[in-house]
Amino acid sequence: MKKIKVGLMGLGTVGGGVWDVLRMNRDEIIRNCGYEIKIEKILVKEGFKPKVSGVSKDKLTHNFDDIVENDEIEIVIELIGGIEPAREYILRAIKAGKHVVTANKALLAQHGVELSKAAYEAGVRLSYEASVAGGVPIINPLKESLGANKIKKIMGILNGTTNYILTKMTNENVDFHTVLKEAQDMGYAEADPTADVEGFDAAHKLTILSTLAFGTPVKFKDVHREGITKINPLDIEYARELGYVIKLLGIAKEIDGELELRVHPTFIPKNHPLAAVNDSFNAVFVKGNAVGDLMFYGRGAGDLPTASAVISDVMDIIKKRSLKPNLKNGFSYEPTKKAKPMGEIVNEYYIRFMVKDIPGVLGKIATLFGEYNVSLSSVIQKGRSERGVPLVFITHEARESDIQKALQEVNSIDEVIEIGNIIRVENGQERGEQ
Ligand SMILES: NC(=O)c1ccc[n+]([C@@H]2O[C@H](COP(=O)([O-])OP(=O)(O)OC[C@H]3O[C@@H](n4cnc5c(N)ncnc54)[C@H](OP(=O)(O)O)[C@@H]3O)[C@@H](O)[C@H]2O)c1
Repeated sequence: MKKIKVGLMGLGTVGGGVWDVLRMNRDEIIRNCGYEIKIEKILVKEGFKPKVSGVSKDKLTHNFDDIVENDEIEIVIELIGGIEPAREYILRAIKAGKHVVTANKALLAQHGVELSKAAYEAGVRLSYEASVAGGVPIINPLKESLGANKIKKIMGILNGTTNYILTKMTNENVDFHTVLKEAQDMGYAEADPTADVEGFDAAHKLTILSTLAFGTPVKFKDVHREGITKINPLDIEYARELGYVIKLLGIAKEIDGELELRVHPTFIPKNHPLAAVNDSFNAVFVKGNAVGDLMFYGRGAGDLPTASAVISDVMDIIKKRSLKPNLKNGFSYEPTKKAKPMGEIVNEYYIRFMVKDIPGVLGKIATLFGEYNVSLSSVIQKGRSERGVPLVFITHEARESDIQKALQEVNSIDEVIEIGNIIRVENGQERGEQ
């Protein structure tokens, strides 16, 4: 049997999964790519104890030189995560003429163009299917199966931890902190949950997807980002009453040649395909101008699902490595589209206030909104407490900057106790969408 020798960096969750899947599905892998994939060396830290079985000690190394200087190794898989030394090691592997597979979304979102340029110049491939939505194929479909489309919109549930938390909050009527604690105890959320709950992880993934989809180098800093920490059980209850579900969405749209790039909690209609994506599942909804609407759904994380995507990249490289890549691994180097400032986006909004129980408050707020061209499509005012009365609006389409200015003024109305939350609403059809 012909063998391809691979160097693996990192034998943690995904690295261990790669080791297991290569053994579990050896025959299928050989049948589908014509080679046995042999892990020749594995980079681990000092004192490392493998959690997977069957790894012989002589495969392990603490020195990256043992991988990069081994001429028999043709492909390097990076699964150590983080920016450095992952970036340095990948660049060294590329310079040594090795193809690279990585699942590292944080690195690609910030240094993808640099790595892609290095690979392009060295004539090697840089593959990263596992970096977005784990086991769900989305990177290669965007690059290949959908390559004949202009992509107009991507909307994705790109982070399993936050989807798990929101699903629990919705189904069990519990608050954010209680569910987060439970998710941490069960190992679904990290001890430091910031990257997930504040939307950084989803924003990294949206940066990668929109770079590919829109053919322009998208900067991570251009993605507007809000997390789920402010979502209150009241918001979930009102969403239900109004016919919506709250999801943390990554949204990227091309409208009139400009890009809207944002990650934030979103009201989506309860009959939208993304509304049914629950627990830790991921899904990416894509609109192409030829193909129409598509949705990719599955396990966005975990050892075996993510390993499935990593190994598919290795197999793809094996099949194509004799063809010198004349493409940029899905990246573009010259900016062709501008990111739209957040203040210029047009959306519908859910706004929840707590107001004093005095006649005429609703009228005052509605009038003030009207002065900023914001009109209301639904209003709910019910319930009473010593603190006041909750008042909920859904607006018609309005400019973000007008909404923000109106809210600043509303804050100074005496009868308004607090602005509880403001959440953008996605209803489907876009302006400028054909
Ligand atoms: N987990 C998922 O489901 C998933 C899904 C999609 C993508 N990814 C991406 O896949 C990558 C790996 O994630 P993971 O969940 O497998 O992480 P992990 O479980 O923490 O594994 C990383 C392993 O690499 C080791 N390591 C870190 N720096 C190293 C270095 N300089 N030299 C040698 N070993 C080093 C770590 O050792 P220590 O633990 O001792 O630091 C750990 O054993 C990340 O980029 C992540 O974003 C993960």
